[in-house]
Amino acid sequence: MIQNAFSMLMDIRRLVPNPSERPLSFALALTRAFIGCGLFLLSPDALALDPLRAADKEIPYLLGLGDPNEFLSFESRPTTRSVELGRFLFFDKRLSGDGTIACSSCHLPSRAFTDGKAVSIGINGQRGHRNAPTIVNRLYGRSFFWDGRAHTLPEQTLEPFISPVEHGLSQRDLLSVVSSIPGYRRLFRETFGTDVAAEGIAVALTHFQWTILSGNSPVDRFDYRGDATALPVAAQRGFLVFRGKGGCVRCHAGPNYTDEQYHNLGVGWESPHVDLGRYSVTRQPEDIGAFKTPTLREVARTAPYMHDGRFKTLREVVNFYNHGGVSNPHQDPIMQPLFLSDDEREDLEAFLNNLSGQGWQQAVAPRVFPK
Ligand code: HEC
Ligand code: HEC
Repeated sequence: MIQNAFSMLMDIRRLVPNPSERPLSFALALTRAFIGCGLFLLSPDALALDPLRAADKEIPYLLGLGDPNEFLSFESRPTTRSVELGRFLFFDKRLSGDGTIACSSCHLPSRAFTDGKAVSIGINGQRGHRNAPTIVNRLYGRSFFWDGRAHTLPEQTLEPFISPVEHGLSQRDLLSVVSSIPGYRRLFRETFGTDVAAEGIAVALTHFQWTILSGNSPVDRFDYRGDATALPVAAQRGFLVFRGKGGCVRCHAGPNYTDEQYHNLGVGWESPHVDLGRYSVTRQPEDIGAFKTPTLREVARTAPYMHDGRFKTLREVVNFYNHGGVSNPHQDPIMQPLFLSDDEREDLEAFLNNLSGQGWQQAVAPRVFPK
């Protein structure tokens, strides 16, 4: 059952990017998953394993963000237990090939859940090829990873464990490491009423990540409450550039400062090896070199920037936009030189520096782990 469930999750993960493109294999895998899992897949939200009834975990409604309940209603409800189990799993280095890597190795609370490196380093010092994005406000996200290859957070969550350059485990190893720890066996029983299973790992980690939020920033207090004292005057001017001459809001829109779409800005196009981004998921020519618009919340804490971490400072990012990115045959036509003055660029930077908020500071490493 456990193995079947896991292979089903993996099947869905591989298929989700563009099921319509491969209708036959989609149907085959779906059938296989049905056979493997019986009733489990019949639920429309098959990945939403419900924890046992226990105290519900309140997800706060923070100034500037949408109502969390609207986003939670389609998924399973987090409970205090499922969130706590997820927190253990997130910080536990034992769940990796050489016992040195946890999710928190690349998503550090002190850096608003990024790692400060251009590209992440996984087990045995192996370099990945992309920058670790922040995981704040993933409750509000609609697709995951820079190329959007995962549609849901539970689906996203299992990938790092089996990535050979991240945690470097096989599916079987992951389950046997977690099951070998009696404390986890007990927590899975108490939380889900099941043995240690892939679905439970995915759901607990998802529930924990839903509690990692960022709202109520100085910009929110200025924007939603009209509190002019909340935001320095330079940042207020920068807000105008962001929405006006800079055109940033054309993509960094909405409560999370993202349109949840993919754009080719030209990042990396001056070098011979280009990351094709969204194209590798959809195989649509218009997606060549396109990446998901990232949230800008906590951006002052999440350097370096862009999918390959090439820019060390926000100044460099602003200069990149001012030049209209790097021209290439697939570049988004929105990208044009901006001709911002020095003052306007400084103001824009001041604005970006005021998107740091609250809602994630409580998500700290446990002092002791299940034994
Ligand atoms: C070795 C470093 C590393 C480890 C360990 C790691 N991640 Fe990541 N994480 C990354 C990188 C790099 C990306 C972006 C990869 C991509 O987009 O192709 C990422 C992306 C993500 C995203 C998507 C964010 C978004 O906005 O699209 C989430 C969520 C996430 N990781 C959670 C986790 C969880 C949960 C774990 C533990 C199971 C974990 N990560 C382990 C480096 C890491
Ligand atoms: C055409 C859509 C679009 C516009 C317009 C746009 N952005 Fe972006 N932004 C993106 C995308 C897509 C990325 C990621 C690109 C990549 O890594 O290849 C990004 C990345 C960023 C990052 C890096 C965030 C991180 O976590 O790495 C910052 C900061 C940023 N943009 C700020 C701005 C500012 C300021 C403006 C206005 C001057 C702006 N953006 C205009 C789409 C856009």
